Amino acid sequence: MSMKIISVVGARPNFMKIAPFINAINEYNSLKSKRSRLILHLLVHTGQHYDDRMSKAFFEDLGIPKADINLGVGSGTHAEQVGYTMIEFEKVLKQEKPDWVVVVGDVNATLACSVTAKKEWIKVCHIEAGLRSGDITMPEEVNRLVTDRLADLLLTPDHISSENLIKEGTDLKRIQFVGNIMIDTLESNREKAKALNIKDIVHNNLVPDYQLKSNIPLDEEFGVITLHRPSNVDKKEVLQPIIRFMLDEVTKDLTLLWPIHPRAKKQLQSFGLFDEIAAHPRMILLEPLGYFDMLRLNMGAKIMLTDSGGLQEECTILGTPCLTLRWNTERPVTLKEHGGASVLVGNNVNRIREEYFIALQKARTPIRPELWDGKTAERCLEAIINY
Ligand code: UD1
Repeated sequence: MSMKIISVVGARPNFMKIAPFINAINEYNSLKSKRSRLILHLLVHTGQHYDDRMSKAFFEDLGIPKADINLGVGSGTHAEQVGYTMIEFEKVLKQEKPDWVVVVGDVNATLACSVTAKKEWIKVCHIEAGLRSGDITMPEEVNRLVTDRLADLLLTPDHISSENLIKEGTDLKRIQFVGNIMIDTLESNREKAKALNIKDIVHNNLVPDYQLKSNIPLDEEFGVITLHRPSNVDKKEVLQPIIRFMLDEVTKDLTLLWPIHPRAKKQLQSFGLFDEIAAHPRMILLEPLGYFDMLRLNMGAKIMLTDSGGLQEECTILGTPCLTLRWNTERPVTLKEHGGASVLVGNNVNRIREEYFIALQKARTPIRPELWDGKTAERCLEAIINY
């Protein structure tokens, strides 16, 4: 008898979580004799992220097979993305009748596909369960809460996440601590990334409408910025002071490399801030980077200034001092008080400045939270098989 699993991806941060899971399935199938139970696997891409640089590049870098089904949801409001995904995913489930739907992370696909699967009486496994920022204004927090309430099997990256689920009254039988699956991807690709040259990455990824500066000052020491959260990029009064701090102060110490998310770019253009950033001699705007390129920048960066949850985790493993431009985090295990590399600085410039000077003096100190060992995907698959 075989077991049929549909796993789901929708947006960029999902790809590095699904890649090791698919590898684990392939590995499992290759070790089983013909009479044993095989796993039939289908990959569904909701199509929320569709640009080559936000999606295809990661399939290529991480060797993810082309999605079996693409729902083509594209950009839109949250209701449009979730609603359209549910309508299309229901058709897939009726046709394919899987035993399990596996969702990862906290994007709109995670929510939409877990709700749809439960209404079709299909078991749901959530990889990266139990993360809580406590901030219900974040779309991702809504997605996490609903998904974790519904999923049959909740696979957590750390004990804090397991405790969150227990506090919410989740039956212990549904929770299993497996570690951080994204670190599987980091561990299997760090050697490849290490071999890349920073100058090549910069030259190959400059934004096309960038006023090419005659001589890009690529010093030994550089910092990396990424911003994409609506709470940081959607309001000019929040974004502008952060930009001023970067341009007027940080660039005195470091060249800044900024692989720019489509949402941030669109907002900077609409606020009339883009041209000044592009023209600044020590600020280098890059297109969204592929997995290896971003990992290489993180390995070499003196400091990371980010609002990304995934980068907080990668900085922890690599030891890159990380200023997290948020007031809260669903990943407390990455914070300094838990031994991690990240400090919450919100979006108040005084607070950012204070921690910036401390971080600038900090040496790179890698740490490894429990079970962030590169073997999480195997444990996820085992948990599903043994359920
Ligand atoms: C989504 C996730 C967020 C994750 C982020 C990583 C949700 C609720 N949010 O946010 O958790 O951290 O991805 O990137 O699912 N766009 C493009 N090309 C694309 C995709 C989007 O240009 O391939 C533009 C569109 O103009 C769109 C904007 O980017 O309006 C934002 O995209 P969207 O899918 O709404 O969410 P993200 O902000 O990327």
